[in-house]
Amino acid sequence: MAGNDSKPSALSAMGRRTKEPPISWLMGLKLERPELISLAAGFTDNPTLPVAGSRRLLNELLGDAALGQAALQYGSTAGDDTLRKLTARRIRQLDGNPRGQAASYEARRTVITHGSQQFLYMATEALCDPDDIVLVEDPTYFVYLGIMQSRGVAGRGVRMNRDGIDLGHLEQVLESLRRSDDLKRVKMLYLVSYYQNPTGRSTSRQVKTGALELLRRYERAAGHPIYLMEDAAYRELGFAATPAPSALANRGAADRVIYSGTYSKPFATGVRVGFGVLPEALLAPVLRIKGNHDFGTGHLAQQLVVRALESGLYEKNLAKVQRRYRAKAKAMTDAMRAHFPEAVRWEQPEGGLNVWAALPRKVNTGMKSRFFRKVLDRKVLYVPGGLCYTDDPTRPKPGHEMRLSFGAATETDIQKGIRRLGQVI
Ligand SMILES: Cc1ncc(COP(=O)(O)O)c(C=O)c1O
Repeated sequence: MAGNDSKPSALSAMGRRTKEPPISWLMGLKLERPELISLAAGFTDNPTLPVAGSRRLLNELLGDAALGQAALQYGSTAGDDTLRKLTARRIRQLDGNPRGQAASYEARRTVITHGSQQFLYMATEALCDPDDIVLVEDPTYFVYLGIMQSRGVAGRGVRMNRDGIDLGHLEQVLESLRRSDDLKRVKMLYLVSYYQNPTGRSTSRQVKTGALELLRRYERAAGHPIYLMEDAAYRELGFAATPAPSALANRGAADRVIYSGTYSKPFATGVRVGFGVLPEALLAPVLRIKGNHDFGTGHLAQQLVVRALESGLYEKNLAKVQRRYRAKAKAMTDAMRAHFPEAVRWEQPEGGLNVWAALPRKVNTGMKSRFFRKVLDRKVLYVPGGLCYTDDPTRPKPGHEMRLSFGAATETDIQKGIRRLGQVI
């Protein structure tokens, strides 16, 4: 059958529906044109990637025939048991070992995935049919919006304050969905809770607790659980105060919170080992889906992460990563202070990889805009803010913002890139 165009096609509805993820285009452009200063997407800081330490650990691993053979063999669908235990323990420690909450941190419900991206995808696949609804932050992680788009899942945006979503607005959104009899379509609320991509903001403990309470309150009308999916991808990339505990630390969280995390950003993006903790009701469905995706994450990569955690390389390198990103964040915001006009608004990040900048509303920063082209003519790339908003029929999409990443570029390039951006602005 034909899709949107009139040519016959053998593609499935999903094959026809799925648009090119902007992340692929943005990362591809940088690889094609290395002269571009990319303040856009994806890559992390090359000099902090743990090359020497990883070589040592891999030599140890492959220097032993039995260990080496095990590492080069398939593993299990849920992931290496030691890594699952270490991961569950680490999340619990980061949460301050909350008393009476052991159920939230069971290794048994911890799944190792190919990056946290795969985990986000599978959790969504297990919960959502086309036309279901996921509530997201306004703005949110644009690659997750791609998953929703591809799977035909609709989004509703919830406005953000400095400490996470606006609970009053979340209630309004839930209430209006109840009135229109659409609550049964709502499967979860997705929050990027630490140094959010793209705004850099973190969700406070109160907001996590309040959001869980609100979701519970609307479950009866929905006729099923409404989950909170907490994406903690940047949790360990903080460079100021200790951030709030995860939503798992809340009473009763074990059966409502889906926690997603990663060893990509804090250790090595190329290793691409992520993880998630699932409520009991979702564990078997997600593992069955993973069995069909790949029946297990790359075993060698998992063994490297186990050894990095056990040997202390992970912690040592993490401290370096945090110092480096703090310096790069400062280089970026110092340059913004020097080169951007007053009318541009942004917040000093306390972690993560991004600064979110708002231009005056009349400036369109979209991929097809004159502004984007002019910036690209000056060999600079950024992520247009509009990409980070879900297609929510109840509000217009803001188009005057940009996400500027200090992850991959060197300090000199960050300064140069911001100066050129300032000239265009
Ligand atoms: C908010 C957020 N979640 C998840 C991911 C996925 O990362 P990975 O698959 O490398 O764990 C990213 C990557 O940029 C991200 O920014």
